[in-house]
Amino acid sequence: MKLLVTGGAGFIGSAVVRLAVARGHEVVNLDALTYAACLANVASVAEHPAYAFEQADIRDFKALEEIFARHAPDAVMHLAAESHVDRSIDGPGAFIETNVTGTYHLLQAARGYWEGQGRPGGFRFHHISTDEVYGSLGETGRFTEETPYAPNSPYSASKAASDHLVRAWGETYGLPQVITNCSNNYGPYHFPEKLIPVVILNALAGKEIPVYGQGLNVRDWLYVEDHADALLCVLEKGRVGRSYNIGGDNELRNIDLVRMICAILDRLRPAKRPYSSLIRFVEDRPGHDLRYAIDPTRIETELGWRPSVTLEQGLEKTVRWYLDNEAWWRALLEREGVGERLGTAARGGRGPAQHPSPESGLTG
Ligand SMILES: NC(=O)c1ccc[n+]([C@@H]2O[C@H](COP(=O)([O-])OP(=O)(O)OC[C@H]3O[C@@H](n4cnc5c(N)ncnc54)[C@H](O)[C@@H]3O)[C@@H](O)[C@H]2O)c1
Repeated sequence: MKLLVTGGAGFIGSAVVRLAVARGHEVVNLDALTYAACLANVASVAEHPAYAFEQADIRDFKALEEIFARHAPDAVMHLAAESHVDRSIDGPGAFIETNVTGTYHLLQAARGYWEGQGRPGGFRFHHISTDEVYGSLGETGRFTEETPYAPNSPYSASKAASDHLVRAWGETYGLPQVITNCSNNYGPYHFPEKLIPVVILNALAGKEIPVYGQGLNVRDWLYVEDHADALLCVLEKGRVGRSYNIGGDNELRNIDLVRMICAILDRLRPAKRPYSSLIRFVEDRPGHDLRYAIDPTRIETELGWRPSVTLEQGLEKTVRWYLDNEAWWRALLEREGVGERLGTAARGGRGPAQHPSPESGLTG
C-alpha cells in the first residue's frame, strides 16, 4: 500500500513510518516540521526507495491537494497535531488551528482526491487520536469505544473535535474512515518535554525530578512501537466507520512510574545516591485528569492485536535508548521552550518561563 502519513517526523508518526517501510509499504511523510519534529527520527529510512518526504502544513489546502495528486496514496494515516497538553493551556489557538482546522483541510483534500478516483472502497482515512477525549476516570472503570466524550484540556477538546469531523466525513460523504484512540505512549525518540524523557534526562543530569501534585494521577502506558503495530493492524483489518481503543493494560500512578525508571537507572548507570532521591513534588497542572485506562477488548478480539512488550521490558528498552542516543536528545534540549515549566497560564501564570527550569510538562 502507498501510505500518506501526516506528522511522520514526530514521535509516534516516525515509529509508524519506520515500521511501515520495514513491512514493505510505500510511505509519503507529510510534516510541517514544527518544534516537535525531528528528521533524525526517520533517518534510518530517508534513503529508502519506498520513502518520500513532503514538508507541508495541513492547514494549507492547496499544498495538500497537490500532494494527493502527485503521490496518489491508497490510505492516509493522520498523526500531525499539536500534542502537548501543557502547551495547549498556555496557547490553545495553535491547537484549534492545526488539530481542528488542519484536520478539516486534510479531510477535504482526501475527499476531493478520493471522489476524483471514483470513490474506491479500499481507500482509508485513518485518524489517530487519544484516550484523553474521554476525560477523566475515577478509581474504577475503563474507557470503551462507547464512553461519551468529555475532554477537559484544550488539547483533548481539539482532538475530540477532529474525531467528530472525521466521523462526519464518513457519515455524510461516505469517506471510508477509521479512528483509533490510544493511551499514553513512551519509547525511543520521545520528545524531551514529556514525562518519561524528563525523568530520565533530569536524573542523568543530577537535577530534581519534578512530579505534579502527589504523583497520584494514573496513566495507561503503551510502548510506541506496539502502538505503530496496532495502527497498521487497524489500517489493514479494521472495519470502516468503526473506532478502536488501543492500550496495553499498563495502568500506573505517575509516582510509581517515576520510581520504576529511577530503579532501572540505578541498575544501568549507578550514581552516588539512588536517583529517587531527586524526586520533588511540584504544583499540579490545572484540570489534571486523575486517571485514564483503556479497555482494549475490541482490538484484541476483533483484530487479534496484542502488545509485544510488558511495561518493565518497554521501560528498560527506552532507558537504554536514551543512554545510547545522547546526541539526539542534546540537540532537542537546545530548542526554544524545551525544559521550561509550561501550562501555568490558567492560574494567571505568564505561560512559558523565560529561563529553563527542570519543571517541564509532565504528562501527555
Ligand atoms: N504521545 C502520545 O502519548 C499520544 C497518545 C495517543 C494519541 N496521540 C496522537 O498521536 C499523534 C502523534 O502524537 P506525537 O506524540 O507523535 O506528536 P508529536 O508532537 O511528537 O508529533 C507531531 C508531528 O506533527 C507535525 N505537525 C504539527 N503541526 C502540523 C501541521 N500544521 N502540519 C503538518 N504537520 C504538523 C509536527 O511537526 C510533528 O512532527 C497526535 O495526533 C496525538 O494526538 C499521541
